[in-house]
Amino acid sequence: MEKIKWGIIGTGRIAHTFAAALNGCGDAELCAVASRSERKAKAFADEVGAGSFYGSYKEFAEKADVQAVYIATPMASHFEDARICLKNGKNVLCEKTVTLNSAELEELLELADKNGLFFMEAMWTKCRPSFLKAKEWAQSGRIGQLKYIKADFSNMVRYDKKDRLFRPDCGGGALLDLSVYPVSLACAFLGNEPSETISSAHIGADGVDLSNSVVLKYPDGSFASTDSGFEIPLRNNALISGTDGYILFGDWFFCSNDVSLYDREGNEVEKFSYENDVNGYEYEIYEFNRCLREGLKDSPLVPHADTLAVMKILDECRRQWGMKFPQEM
Ligand SMILES: NC(=O)c1ccc[n+]([C@@H]2O[C@H](COP(=O)([O-])OP(=O)(O)OC[C@H]3O[C@@H](n4cnc5c(N)ncnc54)[C@H](OP(=O)(O)O)[C@@H]3O)[C@@H](O)[C@H]2O)c1
Repeated sequence: MEKIKWGIIGTGRIAHTFAAALNGCGDAELCAVASRSERKAKAFADEVGAGSFYGSYKEFAEKADVQAVYIATPMASHFEDARICLKNGKNVLCEKTVTLNSAELEELLELADKNGLFFMEAMWTKCRPSFLKAKEWAQSGRIGQLKYIKADFSNMVRYDKKDRLFRPDCGGGALLDLSVYPVSLACAFLGNEPSETISSAHIGADGVDLSNSVVLKYPDGSFASTDSGFEIPLRNNALISGTDGYILFGDWFFCSNDVSLYDREGNEVEKFSYENDVNGYEYEIYEFNRCLREGLKDSPLVPHADTLAVMKILDECRRQWGMKFPQEM
């Protein structure tokens, strides 16, 4: 099987992790990288063994000989970075959150559709074997009727006003950086159409949320409760509860290699564990490559409809808090 040719835009933390997954997965070839600076692009290419490098994202989009592009820039940059790639015939795997808001995402999806290209949110969690096992248990009725989800994600980050996480112009805040995981999990199990979104946040001096709680209520009476933040230590766990039992992920639920099934008395009845092939990011690469090879334009594991539904919920939370990014004013 011929390897899919990949490129990466951005040279930060996750770009390095993803490059290791690409190089280790055996299914892909890392051909090109792009940075806003030629020096950084060259250093990154040398480090990860990419054949070519570009000192501008636009030049990369126009010239790089790749089929797939992984966008690893801050949220506020995703829309433009994805747009130039889609305009230049490249399929896109875009980091979370894919855009600042749902309107931007709708525009990208239209462009991908018009140009016959594949676009996928890099919601790696949804491609991992532990997540797929939990879905299989839930869908086959192992925990009865789903009633409740509790999921949280905190990442204790020391305040640095230059860090993208605290910068409104970069799409900062815990909502887009962290809550996107527990909210995506809630929607994947309870559905994309909650009847009500109730949320609250602590907004810092820079104008982005430092912590938040989001409750999603569904028409059938089920609900999900999620907490996230840069300033509160949480268990980073996810519990999916039904009338006959519950499913519990190991710590750091979105990247956990363990998931267990419990009966309604709290006895563990089944445990699923696995070892990553590389570092955990390879599963979204396998899914992306599979979709490309099969000519799919929407991934069954990370469908556009799910990504859009989550973006709309995050929009609604920010509407409730009065939190806007400079690009939206
Ligand atoms: N899936 C995951 O587990 C995971 C984990 C962490 C982050 N992420 C996501 O990945 C994306 C990048 O996060 P990161 O932690 O890797 O960020 P980071 O370390 O700050 O790196 C971001 C890179 O984007 C480029 N960039 C473009 N415009 C920028 C700007 N205005 N300010 C700063 N950098 C800019 C820079 O590369 P050049 O200077 O070379 O152009 C920079 O190295 C975010 O969307 C984040 O949500 C995902």
